[in-house]
Amino acid sequence: MSDHMKYNIDLMQTPPEEDTARQYYYIEKAKKYVQKESEEAGRPLTACITTFGCQMNARDSEKLRGILLDIGYMEAPEDEADFVIFNTCTVRENANTRVYGRLGQLKPHKKKNSHMKIGLCGCMMQEPEVIEKLKKSYSFVDLVFGTHNIYKFAELICQRYESGKMVVDIWKDTDKIVEDLPNKRKYSFKSGINIMFGCNNFCSYCIVPYVRGRERSRKPEDIIREIERLVSDGVTEVMLLGQNVNSYGKTLDEPISFAQLLQKIQKIEGLKRIRFMTSHPKDLSDELIDVMATSKKICKHLHLPVQSGSTEILKKMNRHYTKESYLELVEKLRAKVPDISLTTDIIVGFPGETEEDFEETLDVVRKVRYDSAFTFIYSKRTGTPAAKMENQVPADVVKKRFDRLLHEVQSIAAEVCAVHEGTTQEVLIESVSDHDSTMVTGRMSNNLLVHLKGEASMIGSYVNAHLTECKGFYYLGELAE
Ligand code: 5AD
Ligand code: SF4
Repeated sequence: MSDHMKYNIDLMQTPPEEDTARQYYYIEKAKKYVQKESEEAGRPLTACITTFGCQMNARDSEKLRGILLDIGYMEAPEDEADFVIFNTCTVRENANTRVYGRLGQLKPHKKKNSHMKIGLCGCMMQEPEVIEKLKKSYSFVDLVFGTHNIYKFAELICQRYESGKMVVDIWKDTDKIVEDLPNKRKYSFKSGINIMFGCNNFCSYCIVPYVRGRERSRKPEDIIREIERLVSDGVTEVMLLGQNVNSYGKTLDEPISFAQLLQKIQKIEGLKRIRFMTSHPKDLSDELIDVMATSKKICKHLHLPVQSGSTEILKKMNRHYTKESYLELVEKLRAKVPDISLTTDIIVGFPGETEEDFEETLDVVRKVRYDSAFTFIYSKRTGTPAAKMENQVPADVVKKRFDRLLHEVQSIAAEVCAVHEGTTQEVLIESVSDHDSTMVTGRMSNNLLVHLKGEASMIGSYVNAHLTECKGFYYLGELAE
């Protein structure tokens, strides 16, 4: 049954009140507008969503894509598309700069193509200064919305058609979670699943709590239902997404822990791999470690952002753990889950960071020996407590520390990665290799990539690969007998 039938949509009637039904109503309505415009153009209309930022945004883009395809757009590369959408990030200042640059490039395209629309959404749109700037200097943009109302995409598109003007709809926060809307996955065999939205941690450098709002968890039964549906559609690997998955479920009417959620999810038949991110060290429970240790489905990989190795800086960051307690946590994890791969995020140049503080970070990197680490130069985000702190570190000092850190992280990661050489591992084949069409790329449980001879028909299947050679951050392998 089509969703149109399911929701008994009659466009002559007023739109339904209930959120999901209402959006299916607007999807039908938008479809009519797109069809009409496409007839005028004498060709199908095309669209492209460009995603910046994290996996949360990538998942949001799949939802937008689902709606775009439902209302009749076809996909095309950005420079050919009639509808270009930037799903933005704002975690660091340079993410914003890039969006303004890309918008400038689009302006001449829009002048040439009367069917062209530009949409902006995501985290950067939640900043009031950004909206001011867009209204003033980028009035050729058609549609602007934020992180809380992406589910209204079809309704906003209708508004744009009806008003003929720039539509701006930004909500400060929300307690809404709208279920069961369309989405179009990037991969047929794996999928991200939002288990919670927002963040209550307020790390002093971070803008996320301001742009993604307060923490809200989805009900376990909604999550399970979504995963069951995905599995029946061919998905075998899920990535559970949240800013701080370890505090999942605390605010639900019937509270449940993240570890308990994992136990429910791993019972789903046909599901083979479970990943999750991001974990905050302060909330990582023994219960979770025990579940990871015994589970056959939860991947042996944990992303555990440390941010800094200096207890002093961690305090100023409002992280609620010390260098020592972090290292103890890592020790406990490794004792119970011996083959676990650990990755992290590190910020260099937080206000007041001294050479000694930085050495503490290097010390943690050497002690933990991460499989990989994302390293960032501290970026001052207006509105966060750290932006007002004194002793901002000079850029040249930060750059030197950053280079030293990167060198340390990379040389350790190359050594850590190499320990699997010569072993045989189960690999989920994800794609044909970008560089060589006779090779495929797959992922091991610990998240490392393996390239081996193969073809497109293998995508989505699990194979045993013999790891012949470690190339630093990935392996070359061959199919095992
Ligand atoms: N500057 C630099 N890096 C930041 N991150 C978050 N906020 C900032 C900032 N203001 C990093 C953190 C986080 C990752 C997603 O981005 O390391 O874990
Ligand atoms: Fe993701 Fe944060 Fe960037 Fe938003 S600001 S896209 S939540 S990293």
